[in-house]
Order: sequence, then structure tokens, then C-alpha cells
Amino acid sequence: MYNLLTTKYVKYSYSEWLNELKQNDKCRLKIDFSEEPVLNLSERKLIFPSITAFQRGEHSDGIHLLHEAEKFAERYQEPDYLEVMKYFIREENFHSSYLARYMHFYREPLKKEIELDRIFREIRKSMGIFSEISVLVTAEIIALTYYTALGNVGEKLNSPALSAICQQMLHDELRHIILQSYTLGHLRHDKKVALFRKFLMENTTIAVWAAYGNVIQEGGFSYFAFRDENFGYLEQSLHLVQK
Ligand SMILES: [Fe+2]
Ligand SMILES: [Fe+2]
Repeated sequence: MYNLLTTKYVKYSYSEWLNELKQNDKCRLKIDFSEEPVLNLSERKLIFPSITAFQRGEHSDGIHLLHEAEKFAERYQEPDYLEVMKYFIREENFHSSYLARYMHFYREPLKKEIELDRIFREIRKSMGIFSEISVLVTAEIIALTYYTALGNVGEKLNSPALSAICQQMLHDELRHIILQSYTLGHLRHDKKVALFRKFLMENTTIAVWAAYGNVIQEGGFSYFAFRDENFGYLEQSLHLVQK
């Protein structure tokens, strides 16, 4: 598990986040497909259901989120926040495109609708910026564990493209969790909120494991290790919120 609390990002203001996201935007991942292996059917069945779902989940037009971000920026007198979230959404769409390119290389079709993703989007829109960011950070924490596992699978399959994509995702998502925690720190954050976030994490962990536990397990996590990892990051996020 990565220690988020010792990174330089924990002290960032929104203007520093804006600078960070702009810098990162200048050096996007170039994926090298020249050394890719031929994957057999069972290898494809192992990795592509979850990659397909995360490819969809990473993509967003961000209209609702930006609407809420605008209100937040005004209410908390944080003029950079809206721009930060525009760059953030752009970064997430790059994630989606990395996975899309990987799928395209292996001739896997993209999917427009994933049930779990649809439910997530509904909950996100239910309670303004609080639900947007709480649900988002839950998904990003799970993504951090998932990409750790998928990166391990990428090594096993000798797929340098998959390893490189997962490495980039880990770099980016780790920062996102700190950014969202900073935002949640502006909002109400008492015991009830912490309980809500744990409830969200518990249920999402179960749902993601039910759907994609096989690839996560292949990547080195038992169910309890996966759950512990997710809850470990949640504890770190709750700690950041209280700072
Ligand atoms: Fe992402
Ligand atoms: Fe993210």
C-alpha cells in the first residue's frame, strides 16, 4: 500500500493542484505496443471484462461534476477549483483512452453501458458536490488497488503496454485521492460522514470483487487483502480530510 500522507501533494492548495495538473498534461503516456504478446482465450477472458468496465468508468463528459464544482468554487471562495476539475476530468479521459487503445490493439470491442458504472453515476448525482466527490474517491481508491493487481497480471502476461498503463494510472490516481480528500475537507466531515464513506466502500468492494475478483486475485490479492487495501486507503483519505 502506498503512503499518501507523506507525499508533497498533501500540502497543495487548489492553485498548486492546477499547476500540477497542467504540468502532467504536458507529458501524457505514449504506449509502446511493439513488444506485445499474443494473448490466448483464457488470458483475454481474465483481463478484458474488467478493463472494459474501467475503460467506461474512466470516461466522463463531467457536465454535472463541473456544474457542482462551479457552485463549490463560489461558495468556498476557491476560484481555481473549477479549472482544477476541468483538468482532472481531462486526465480521467486520458485514462479511458489508454485502456481503449489497449483494447483496440487486441481487437476488443468497447462497451457503452456497464451496470455497476451506471449505478455509480446515479449515486454521484444525488447529493451535490458531496456525493460527487465521495463516490468518485471511493471509485479511485478501488481503482488504485485494481490497477496494482492488473499491473501484476500485466507482468505475468509479459505485456509491457499493460504494465505501463497501470503504472501511469497508479501515479495519477494516487494524486486524485489526495485532491478529492482536500475537497471533502472543505465540506461537512463528522462521524456520520465517515460512516457513510465506509458503507460506500464496503458495498463497492463487494460488488467489484463479485464482478472482477478473478483478475484481482490473479494480481495477488485475496478478497480480504483487497478489502484491507481499500480500507487502508480510505483511512488515509479520512485522515487527510480531518487535516
Ligand atoms: Fe482514472
Ligand atoms: Fe482518478
